[in-house]
Amino acid sequence: MNSFEVIIYQKQHDIAYVTLNRPQALNAYNLQMRDELYQVLGTIKDDPEVKVAIFRGAGEKAFCAGADLTEFLTAPSPVIARQVRWERDVWGLFLSITKPLIAAVHGYVLGSGIEIALCCDIRLASEDAQFGLPEVGLGIIPAAGGSQTLPRVMGRAQALEIMLTGRWIKAEEARRLKLVNRVVSRHDLLPAAERLANKIKGYSPMALSHSKQAITRGLDLSLEQGLELEAKLGNSLLNVNRKG
Ligand code: COA
Repeated sequence: MNSFEVIIYQKQHDIAYVTLNRPQALNAYNLQMRDELYQVLGTIKDDPEVKVAIFRGAGEKAFCAGADLTEFLTAPSPVIARQVRWERDVWGLFLSITKPLIAAVHGYVLGSGIEIALCCDIRLASEDAQFGLPEVGLGIIPAAGGSQTLPRVMGRAQALEIMLTGRWIKAEEARRLKLVNRVVSRHDLLPAAERLANKIKGYSPMALSHSKQAITRGLDLSLEQGLELEAKLGNSLLNVNRKG
């Protein structure tokens, strides 16, 4: 099932497992990981056997320590960089997936590590998790949607503080700030994610996808438009259920 080098992709009983797998570099996100993640996300989106996915990091120390600093600013030119981004919009693809995605994070969760987790729907952290956005210190800004996804999760002032200061936060504070849903022991991280995935995968894929869309798309709409979206999604499910 896995033909990748820096990602392990496995599918077991309707659950897809995506493991960032560069533990020697704290699973730093490099170009190869971007390309492999793009393929993996496409598979998750299109494979009807995948009902829910779990994202995690290999090794003891990190979910992901951010962008690979050895490749920092190495794109041949801004034009080429923009073209590659357009052709492989990993983050757009991530956010377009309507199946439930669970992040199970531990250790360092920095830069793109947070951003990957923010593309997921439910975030579990182990007690040793530490979160930070070091981009501002490197003279850049988050490039994987973080400036948009973080404030949607924790609110404007908290997101600004974390982005502008580069301050790191520990798991318990991350939970208080709503960056993660729950903190569990390191030992229980994967089992806790699997308990959630097993519960979720028993439900109708369409009910799950419509529920996810009602919330994720609705959050970007006015209440009135959101209620229209809810009615539309709800009616389409009713029609499917009547026909079925
Ligand atoms: N890119 C490339 N390699 C990285 C990396 C990154 N973002 N983060 C860690 N690594 C590598 C280190 O270079 C080191 O490699 P080596 O063993 O060949 O020297 C290995 O991973 C282990 O990291 P190390 O720094 O020894 O671990 P540590 O526990 O002492 O420190 C961090 C951990 C996360 C504090 C530190 O690695 C760090 O600050 N990383 C950079 C974080 C960052 O700025 N990310 C960019 C976000 S945009």
